[in-house]
Amino acid sequence: MPVSLKTPDEIEKMWVAGRLAAEVLQMIAPHVEAGVTTGELDRICHDYIVDVQQAIPAPLNYKGFPKSICTSVNHQVCHGIPGDKVLKKGDIINIDITVIKDGYHGDTSKMFFVGQPSVQAERLVRLSHECMVKGIEAVRPGGRLGDIGHAIQQHAEAHDLSVVREYCGHGIGREFHEEPQVLHYGRPGTGMELRAGMTFTVEPMINAGRKEVKLLADNWTVVTRDHSLSAQWEHTVLVTDTGVEILTRLPHDTV
Ligand code: MF3
Ligand code: CO
Ligand code: CO
Repeated sequence: MPVSLKTPDEIEKMWVAGRLAAEVLQMIAPHVEAGVTTGELDRICHDYIVDVQQAIPAPLNYKGFPKSICTSVNHQVCHGIPGDKVLKKGDIINIDITVIKDGYHGDTSKMFFVGQPSVQAERLVRLSHECMVKGIEAVRPGGRLGDIGHAIQQHAEAHDLSVVREYCGHGIGREFHEEPQVLHYGRPGTGMELRAGMTFTVEPMINAGRKEVKLLADNWTVVTRDHSLSAQWEHTVLVTDTGVEILTRLPHDTV
């Protein structure tokens, strides 16, 4: 399937799905504290998406994924499966929410601190957020995908952090994962040209140590090979005639 350019009507639906996904992250924030299990966070999000938002949690049964959200703790990079893991003070956790509303997907994730983070964890979370922001700031019509990857990689590596290569951002719309692939590393001026109406995610996974990852035996959870901490942030964005809009940002939020 080629890259789809969304119509104004589709863009309106993408704004709605994006807002709902962002509202799930806002809703779950006060529940992310020492003693809660990732399985409980999943249940709360599931019930909110289904009962309050009357939307669909996209991960549930997606290619066999067993839960409604992804929870990735400390050295887990992405796609952590919620379960019996109890959060403790000092943990960092990424919660990744994707909802389907009226046939369209909104996909966003953010990092949370459980209690007071270590200096190293705070730095990684802050810098990985800056990486995502710089990637989004590189989005404009006439720009190229490589501009996004370059902005992210440059910022990460300038601070001795590494960019995970195996997973990337993605086009999004009627499908959870559409073309194009949005790599979080690359060279400016290379790759597909960005055009108004494209919708995709920017979701860099940044490691405190080496870039290599491995897949656990559950076939979903991705961890850093060297067990260093990893952090990820994600927004769904729209290329406009003049630049970019973040579909998963809430009205009063700063990126
Ligand atoms: N939300 C993830 C992403 O950003 C994908 C999760 S797939 C799942 O693309 F099956 F693990 F949920
Ligand atoms: Co995504
Ligand atoms: Co996601």
